[in-house]
Amino acid sequence: MKKINEIYNLDCLEFLNKIDDKSINLAVIDPPYNLNKAKWDSFESEKDFFDFTFHWIDALIPKLKSNGSLYIFNTPYNSAFILFYLVTKGLFFQNWITWDKRDGLGGAKQKFSNGQESILFFTKGENHIFNYDDVRVPYESTDRIEHAKIKGILKDGKRWFPNPKGRLCGEVWHITSERHKNKINGKTPKMSHITPKPLELVERIIKASSNVGDLVLDCFVGSGITAVAAKKLKRNFICSDNNKNYVKLAKRNLIKYGNK
Ligand SMILES: C[S@@+](CC[C@H](N)C(=O)[O-])C[C@H]1O[C@@H](n2cnc3c(N)ncnc32)[C@H](O)[C@@H]1O
Repeated sequence: MKKINEIYNLDCLEFLNKIDDKSINLAVIDPPYNLNKAKWDSFESEKDFFDFTFHWIDALIPKLKSNGSLYIFNTPYNSAFILFYLVTKGLFFQNWITWDKRDGLGGAKQKFSNGQESILFFTKGENHIFNYDDVRVPYESTDRIEHAKIKGILKDGKRWFPNPKGRLCGEVWHITSERHKNKINGKTPKMSHITPKPLELVERIIKASSNVGDLVLDCFVGSGITAVAAKKLKRNFICSDNNKNYVKLAKRNLIKYGNK
């Protein structure tokens, strides 16, 4: 087993080969999407892309503990095939999370503009960790909730009072993309990684599906967000990326943001 709380510069398969079986509580996986956004995101054909994807999925599954969880990001189209593959591998489907990126939409004229990514949440078994209380979100109907805080709302003969921590988190997540957050006068400046995920989003996953001291794995860590979020939340992590410049960036980000 490789040393934990490190970010390695390795190809995903080489890295996964070095991880002990049944050692990982949570895998947060943001892999290539086959959208030609960069060299690492380009494949000869769709078949090549899915061969690559199913290959790393096969290598990853044995590494999860029996109560472990797996989150995989991708486009809705690719996620449909990935979902089917994971079901055939005997994993348990929990959620299809829609990430509404709150980003400026592209100029599609022959279909609706794309503004979402999908996050598949699967578990290795049926007895997984899910800390629903730690990922509550604010209530939306504020007037009704203010009223309910005082008098409660009569439901099936009982008085219901709102939870002070907020409502249970749904499976549509409205979180502004880093690209959109960084825009200056409507333009995105060159970013150090082209597809960083919002820290808030990865933190939500880690809080929900792991406990303090658990081990979180990411084999496509990019700018290091998973490692930063894990460290902040007092989880252990083990991460890699095959691009040495991204590994340097991830290590810098870990020092800069991991202790905040
Ligand atoms: C979608 S990005 C991950 C972004 C990351 N979640 C973040 O927030 O910064 C995918 C990453 O996978 C890496 N990658 C692509 N192919 C890889 C491979 N075969 N093995 C390991 N890493 C790979 C790329 O260098 C890229 O940083």
